[in-house]
Amino acid sequence: MLTVASLNERWGLFSLLVFIASIVVLACWFITNLSGEQEYRHMIRVSVRCSLPLLILAFTASALNRLWPCEASAWLLRNRKYLGLAFSAVMLWQILFIVLLISTGASLFPPGPAAMFIVSDLIGYTLLLSMTVTSFEMFRNRMSPVAWKRLHRTGIYYIWVIYLYSFPIGIYFSRDNHMEVAGYGFLFFITLAAGILRLLAWGKDSKITFNKWADNIVKATD
Ligand code: HEM
Repeated sequence: MLTVASLNERWGLFSLLVFIASIVVLACWFITNLSGEQEYRHMIRVSVRCSLPLLILAFTASALNRLWPCEASAWLLRNRKYLGLAFSAVMLWQILFIVLLISTGASLFPPGPAAMFIVSDLIGYTLLLSMTVTSFEMFRNRMSPVAWKRLHRTGIYYIWVIYLYSFPIGIYFSRDNHMEVAGYGFLFFITLAAGILRLLAWGKDSKITFNKWADNIVKATD
């Protein structure tokens, strides 16, 4: 049962995060006074930005725990699955606004690179759906642990890359608006920093593995 005390773990946490993000989306929807193409585009941007913190937390949970093992990072790692599922749930808002945008007859992306963005984004959703479904034991058990890990690792990196390249594109298209550029710059920095954290954790692991390997060689030759 969902109680106030259970809101900081597992499904309680999932519900709380989806609730907060949805309130933000709904409040922006209310303020935006949805009526046409530009407003739907704005709401698409709002919904992917509301999902971003959830992706960043799920993406960096393991790295943070390896770099700084403590109660907070252990909590993040323990709840990583629910952060990821909350990310998927909040992304449903984007689908709704994409459908509304399509209903206006507007093209989704600028004519030149449109096909490339649509294919790339659809691959993102395919991976997201596969990761969501296989987060449940019933489906997870049908895959080998190696295949499961490969799917989830590829998927999360792929979605992270979509964010990483979308923000510089946003900077390019809003280059005349300094506030927008600063906002995009900040989002890009946060997204990039998440990747750097993973790189640092990987570097730490590799160093430990290398040191162990070197110790074994020294012991063997003693
Ligand atoms: C996992 C899948 C996806 C991710 C992570 C993702 C992420 C993003 C991001 C980061 C932005 C830029 C937000 C901003 O400017 O602040 C964006 C915008 C957008 N996305 Fe997606 N997206 C995904 C799937 C899709 C799909 C499948 C479509 C449609 C085929 C789509 C259509 C759009 C549109 C129309 C925009 C707004 C462009 C504009 O500003 O005019 N996205 N998405």
